[in-house]
Amino acid sequence: MCGIVGYKGNFINVKVILDTLKLLEYRGYDSAGLAFCSEGNLFVRKSKGKIDNLYEMVDSLQTDLVVAHTRWATHGIPNDINAHPHTSGPLALVHNGIIENYREIKERLKDYDFKSDTDSEVIVHLIHSFYKGNLFDAVLDAVKILKGAFAFVVIDNNTKDLVAVKMESPIVIGLLDSGFLISSDIPSIIKWTRKIISLENGDVFYVHSNEFKIYNFLEQKFVSRNVEIIEWDISVAEKSGYKHFMLKEINEQGKVIRDTLFGRIDEESLKVVLDDKVREFLDSLNIDNIIYIACGTSYHAGLIGSYYSNELAGINSTAFYASEYRYIEKKYFTSKNNTLYIFISQSGETADTLFVARELKQMGENIVTIPNVIGSSMYREFLSFPTRAGIEIGVAATKTFTAQLVNILLLNLYLAQKKGFDVSHVIQELLFIHEVVDGILENYEYIFDIAEKYVDYQHFMYLGRHLMYPVAMEGALKLKEISYIHAEAYAAGEMKHGPIALIDNKMPTLYVLPFNKMINKNISNIQEVKARRGKVLALVDKKSKEFVKDLVDDLLETKYVNEYLQPFVTVIPLQIFAYSVADFKGLNVDQPRNLAKSVTVE
Ligand code: F6R
Repeated sequence: MCGIVGYKGNFINVKVILDTLKLLEYRGYDSAGLAFCSEGNLFVRKSKGKIDNLYEMVDSLQTDLVVAHTRWATHGIPNDINAHPHTSGPLALVHNGIIENYREIKERLKDYDFKSDTDSEVIVHLIHSFYKGNLFDAVLDAVKILKGAFAFVVIDNNTKDLVAVKMESPIVIGLLDSGFLISSDIPSIIKWTRKIISLENGDVFYVHSNEFKIYNFLEQKFVSRNVEIIEWDISVAEKSGYKHFMLKEINEQGKVIRDTLFGRIDEESLKVVLDDKVREFLDSLNIDNIIYIACGTSYHAGLIGSYYSNELAGINSTAFYASEYRYIEKKYFTSKNNTLYIFISQSGETADTLFVARELKQMGENIVTIPNVIGSSMYREFLSFPTRAGIEIGVAATKTFTAQLVNILLLNLYLAQKKGFDVSHVIQELLFIHEVVDGILENYEYIFDIAEKYVDYQHFMYLGRHLMYPVAMEGALKLKEISYIHAEAYAAGEMKHGPIALIDNKMPTLYVLPFNKMINKNISNIQEVKARRGKVLALVDKKSKEFVKDLVDDLLETKYVNEYLQPFVTVIPLQIFAYSVADFKGLNVDQPRNLAKSVTVE
């Protein structure tokens, strides 16, 4: 995690750097800092808490050399000292990632006075230990020793040189008319430039005067990298009248579904039309196994995908957490061209997911990635089938989840059609699902009133069966991450195998219950909860409502749709419920504690 920014060029107002840094705040926001050169001196300003604290500290200073950082703590608590940049002599450095061998390096640097508890501080002292007046040479010596994931930018107040290094963690270089703006992602800098170089692993980007060169320490040679002109339009994130980005993003889901579907279904023949490269790739395979790999919300999308693959495409399928699949011993794996791995990640940078994808790519496995961020590592390094959700600012994933579902469903519908299965009834409804979603979003204020009743509970149970089980998991994740209420999600049939012991009048159950073939089983579960004095909040459509309305305490409502499309319409009331509870509690919905939007550490 963490966001890093660097600048070298003609004079720039430090506030521009802070504005850029603010766009990286989704990556971490427990402390922030910057170091800049002015009139021959190196100044450092750091502060626990949000970037906003820094604006007052720098007023409207001009500088030609600066690094800045927004932190998500890994080593050492969030405080002023652990905040980046860290300095050593004339050098100041900001880092994103984890230095795995920092203890050994610290041992070796006994002469240095370490001020912080961070792993990052070792980098700047290590570079300084090799420094004899040339920053580039010193960095090349240091990277030979560093182990782990790192993207860092270091500046030298003596020579006014800047070096940026990428190893696993993301970093991009923006080319300005006169100078260079470096950042952890593209969206944060395209306000200033659309000319971008994305560094590759092992790249050391070095600027001396106004000239730059790139050396790759893995390949041990100077390399050239393409300058990409970024065409895509991002309307810089605004809340557009909504109280929070999360609420805005929830409300964008109809549009996101429409955009992600656009051009990918032939409305006359009802055939799925995949992007050429993805189609050619799938056509070249004879798949009889699909494995979805992802983390968090994206994993829930993958789990839903495994039901689609098993039932719609008739292909054996499972979903794994990337952090688990990473440690599955793969020595007996043999690539038989029959397994397709689908990696899902809105950021396209999640460390665990990326690690497994790279590992399997090296083993020659078949991989498609579903990233949302264009230009991310998963987008660039693999055959990707991107979603079109636009930038998601709220840390809790909402619209990117529905966009992932669209792409996962499209892939499975394509594979089903390839096998000659008739899935036109699903496609027919999929074409209009955005309208159904918009309809649900026309009337959700009643959820605020229901949420108010549940604000003071400490625990929640979420239940669902079949496709509604991953949806229940996603609903529970939303509640816990933004409202800090403990929420357990269970496959409803598993209730009686243990979790039922938790049920009493202090633990309400939210049952995800649209009408489908399991309605009677679900009703039995509800009765079991009621018999133990548990409150039940049921998410129903007009058909299932008739079955349970007299049985439960409160109703969240959605529209009745084909069972394979139910994830699209059931997740929305759950997102709004979690949002409302968190908002009633007065919490920072868009930036919940301890979290970050992009998890680039293991
Ligand atoms: C939950 C959430 C996280 C992410 C997870 C994976 O709201 O945002 O659980 O889903 O960190 O992130 P990506 O999709 O970027 O790989």
